[in-house]
Amino acid sequence: MKRNIDKAAENHFIEKSDIVKILETNEFDEYLFHTADAVRKEYKGDTVHIRGIIEFSNICKQNCKYCGIRKDNPLTERYRLSSDEILLFAKHAADKGFKTIVLQSGEDGFFSAGNMTEIIKNIKRLDIAITLSIGEKNTEEYRAYKEAGADRYLLRIETTDKNLYKSLHPNMSFENRLRCLNDLKELGYEAGTGILVGLPNQSLDSIAEDILFFKKFDADMIGLGPFIPAPNTPLADEKGGSLTLALKVMALTRILLPDINIPATTAMEALHPNGRIMALNSGANVIMPNVTEGTYKEKYLLYPGKISVNTSANQNYETTVKLIESIGRHAGITHGFRKDCK
Ligand code: 5AD
Repeated sequence: MKRNIDKAAENHFIEKSDIVKILETNEFDEYLFHTADAVRKEYKGDTVHIRGIIEFSNICKQNCKYCGIRKDNPLTERYRLSSDEILLFAKHAADKGFKTIVLQSGEDGFFSAGNMTEIIKNIKRLDIAITLSIGEKNTEEYRAYKEAGADRYLLRIETTDKNLYKSLHPNMSFENRLRCLNDLKELGYEAGTGILVGLPNQSLDSIAEDILFFKKFDADMIGLGPFIPAPNTPLADEKGGSLTLALKVMALTRILLPDINIPATTAMEALHPNGRIMALNSGANVIMPNVTEGTYKEKYLLYPGKISVNTSANQNYETTVKLIESIGRHAGITHGFRKDCK
């Protein structure tokens, strides 16, 4: 098995059956994490890029069964920031030192191509990179955001298992999800995708397919985390995913896609107080603190225990820099594109 991991790290290629074998046993986890960390160091150096997330609306027309802000969760108190508030939070983040702002929201129809492009253009004046994470749109909308200055786009495929995808996403289509991802690539975005690890009825075989999909799609960014059952959702009583399995999927992703950007995600920290450090030591090179101000954060509950809801410390750029420096790494000072590499 160790030889298989070594070979994968050398060739950035692995057979699906070997992925499944690695995922099945915990015997070689430390070796896998260590190998992914070495690949990260070789290709990305010791820089950790810090991206500030603004959660600007939790209004969503979709009903993803795992998600706490799904349309049919009546207990989610809905909010939508004004353009001025979004711009203000972005300005504060840029002033603190953030080089990328991630604009994330539910699929909120209020934000049309018109008002989104205005927001994007205004934020670009701050000379920072913009990542959008606002769901499925049509090709023309994606084009408009790109022309307005958006640099990157995150849209997790969530699972590449079509039947599982269908059962989790009422009234959505796997084909449209793929169309979106292909559009984003073609339009010249840095395109990010990812999955939930440990969903009910998700097999290790299907997770292996997901990892191979990341490679085939040549994703510029991969964000993944454990599924965490959220109250008042159809999956509230299901078993959640494990942090270890999520870290293993992340480590394998680093080994296969050595130069991409991979965040230590908040869902990882929700399951372990050191989750993000563990991720940074197993292949991750990005961290994404929440920079949404005021009381909005506590209403953007995709899942329970989401970090930085109760602590303002995590909003702080300096705190994140210290966290990075505590493991002998340093914060990025560039926009941190994939091609920037080391
Ligand atoms: N547990 C973990 N991650 C979740 N997401 C949504 N709901 C949950 C949950 N219950 C993730 C999805 C989505 C991202 C923004 O948050 O993968 O793409």
